[in-house]
Amino acid sequence: MTDNNLAIIVLAAGQGTRMKSATPKLLHKLGGVTIVSHVLATARELQAAHVVSVVRHERDRLVEVIEVDLPQSLIVDQDDIPGTGRAVEQAVAALPADFAGDVLVVNGDVPLLDADTLSALIERHRAANAAATLLSTILDDASGYGRIIRSADGHLDRIVEHKDATAAELAVNEINAGIYVFSAPQLREELTKLTTNNAQGEKYITDVIGLLRASGSTVAAVELPESWKVEGINDRAQLSRAAGLLNGLIVRGWQLAGVTIIDPATTWIDIQVKIEPDVEIKQGTQLLGATLIESGAVIGPDTTLLDTEVGAGAEVKRTDATLSVIGANASVGPFSYLRPGTYLGDDGKIGTFVETKNAKIGNGSKVPHLSYVGDATIGEKSNIGAGTIFANYDGVTKSHSTIGSHVRTGSHNTFVAPITIGDGAYSGAGAVIRKDVPAGALAINVAPQRNMDGWVVANRAGTAAAEAADKATPDAK
Ligand code: UD1
Ligand code: CA
Repeated sequence: MTDNNLAIIVLAAGQGTRMKSATPKLLHKLGGVTIVSHVLATARELQAAHVVSVVRHERDRLVEVIEVDLPQSLIVDQDDIPGTGRAVEQAVAALPADFAGDVLVVNGDVPLLDADTLSALIERHRAANAAATLLSTILDDASGYGRIIRSADGHLDRIVEHKDATAAELAVNEINAGIYVFSAPQLREELTKLTTNNAQGEKYITDVIGLLRASGSTVAAVELPESWKVEGINDRAQLSRAAGLLNGLIVRGWQLAGVTIIDPATTWIDIQVKIEPDVEIKQGTQLLGATLIESGAVIGPDTTLLDTEVGAGAEVKRTDATLSVIGANASVGPFSYLRPGTYLGDDGKIGTFVETKNAKIGNGSKVPHLSYVGDATIGEKSNIGAGTIFANYDGVTKSHSTIGSHVRTGSHNTFVAPITIGDGAYSGAGAVIRKDVPAGALAINVAPQRNMDGWVVANRAGTAAAEAADKATPDAK
């Protein structure tokens, strides 16, 4: 149900300099989705009456993500005045002028924060009838964060930014998480008083706390024991730490849902992946994007699946697959490379050192060894011989090959596309198939073999081979 007294402001206009990246900070990913997507998903759960996202740096790229993840959000473009205070000021101006409820402000770079924590914060704020309530936490290493400065009686007094702090203030390890609930009328009033008079020349939202306190309003900091939930991401070390924490939560969640995960430390699972009970995941496995694994499948070791579906009971070992579908009870790997558009039917096999692309391999069909299958359709219960290449590219265009059902092709064939091989046909070893093969035919096109007896002894005299040949053929002259 929509909370008519709640507005959310997502701060996403910063540059993210510490990331040292051409990609805007908030578009770096963890768990397979962008930092800001995590925050937007959490904001969506709160069902606020109004949502405003503030953008500036790389605004078009940010807006594209916001429009997908939180389409009800208004977009506000921050002007040249820098700082989180200015961002909030402009966002508040975009709210209905008569909005007198609560304004939740969230930094866009705090991806692990959950909606329950935010709901609890909003409740605390409302119960205390406060002007502002914020989240704080204790960190061993507080560097970079704003410090919570309390008066002698323990009351929240103000926040001081790291760059503006005295040595004594820097020693404080209670930090501002960058998550605040304000009462809208009081927020509006204090925002007009913000200045850029500080070390960074920015308007700080954090200054509103000190201003409210000075005017006698109730402000409170709620200390969150799970500090990992509010760790901000400013650089790539923090990004990988947060990604690791998130992965730990995801892995544990699947374990509790009935999935065997042998080694959580080397198993990476994106947030959108779905796994059925009784799947087993072995060491060194990455399940990415919209991957789906059905019950009883065994994945890994050393396997990366992106946007790939694996059917029940299938086995996928030391494999790299993208945008592929693997049927029930099929077998893939070790050392298989499934590129987009691979579809392997139930009970099928893609074996060792096999690469596939845009290939539909029917139920029970097998490509067991050392082959490339590109732009092909293979029927049911066919077997492709070892070392076969589907030559799909003539240097200009890509063409398709169609192989029927119950086909047996010889080892080391080349299928020069476009070709069609009919049901139940065979081909001989080493064939280069350039013409269609009718159903039931045997295609052979390798020149007949001729053995020149005694050639080695006659032409390679004195070599070990000649000696061995001589010994093996004592009667030859
Ligand atoms: C901010 C807080 C700090 C707190 C920390 C928590 C301020 C002044 N400081 O510091 O007290 O401990 O978060 O992680 O708020 N942004 C804008 N417009 C801007 C600048 C930033 O929208 O002009 C956005 C950023 O995109 C980001 C968020 O605000 O999502 C925080 O900005 P950032 O520069 O990371 O602030 P911190 O220095 O981490
Ligand atoms: Ca930050």
